[in-house]
Amino acid sequence: MRIVSGIQPTGNLHLGNYLGAIRNWVAMQDEWTAKGATCLYFLADLHAISMPHVPADLAANTREMVAALVACGIDPQRSVLFNQAQVPAHAELQWLLCGTARMGWLGRMTQWKDKAGKNREGASVALYSYPVLQAADVLLYQATHVPVGEDQKQHLELARDIAQKFNNDFASEDAPVFTLPAPIIPPEAARIMSLRDGAAKMSKSDPSDMSRINLTDDADTIMQKVKKARTDPEPLPGEAAGLEGRAEARNLVAIYAVMAGCDVATVLAEFGGQGFGRFKPALGDLLVDRLAPIAARFRDLRADRTALDAILAQGAARARTLARPTLDATYAALGLVTG
Ligand code: TYM
Repeated sequence: MRIVSGIQPTGNLHLGNYLGAIRNWVAMQDEWTAKGATCLYFLADLHAISMPHVPADLAANTREMVAALVACGIDPQRSVLFNQAQVPAHAELQWLLCGTARMGWLGRMTQWKDKAGKNREGASVALYSYPVLQAADVLLYQATHVPVGEDQKQHLELARDIAQKFNNDFASEDAPVFTLPAPIIPPEAARIMSLRDGAAKMSKSDPSDMSRINLTDDADTIMQKVKKARTDPEPLPGEAAGLEGRAEARNLVAIYAVMAGCDVATVLAEFGGQGFGRFKPALGDLLVDRLAPIAARFRDLRADRTALDAILAQGAARARTLARPTLDATYAALGLVTG
């Protein structure tokens, strides 16, 4: 079992990242490394250059994101924690896969359509080929499981298509070059929505900071954001079916359930029939209680740049070793002569 996943080091870690992905990274690390599996978690800094960016911010955000992941429970001894830029095999494999990926496949990616918008001619080549690099990220390590939020499912399906076509075209059936990775998506937190708009996912690119809870927000900020979250005037229903068509209410109840470690029915058994005037402060308290220890660890860790760089250097050395066999096999399968 090989568990691999990544996150872009652009700005803060928010509640969507945490509940949709990072919580699962930690849970899988805790469960599977004890049984001999390898977990690789990385900062997708090469992906971050597909959009306009400020180089100094990218470097600072990369280190901050390492601190945030460790604060959330990623243990750099048990998991391989690194940034793509220190493992050139990611960029190499992405080029080797470009002969297999099809233009039509990439053109259908919803993230490409969303981010390029109407200005496709002006979008970067990196934004278009972004999913090929993402495929390389997981195929390089023979990933079997990839813990992600719902929004990355399409990219993972593309990685499987690329792996399958490459194996068909360049490998024999009994000795495939690549393993087909399976996405692991938490059903209850697959898509955490914006606090300002129940139809948009919580995202770091939303211009309004009120739309998301950052893991670094202090108690007052969290409480204020929850109290100002958009809702409807109805009281909460007694059963989950009553949340249909109430996207904002459903989102807040789902966040409560995941943070409390219970199911939606249990939350509604407690709060059904009550208004948001009572539910929101309870949700705010729960968030403050659960996020405060993470924020405190983060503040301690982020100050020690030497320690953060050492974590990345050590993780990258391990990742380079793990990447080598697949990279060599890919060159060989393509008939490329290497030294
Ligand atoms: P990124 O950096 O946008 O997000 C990191 C992880 O957080 C999840 N996520 C969410 N889950 C639920 N609700 C939300 N509102 C929400 N917002 C974000 C994402 O699904 C993701 O799991 N392209 C990827 C990074 C990447 C990657 C990879 C992931 C690069 N290579 C290889 C997996 C495997 C991205 O931009 O995620």
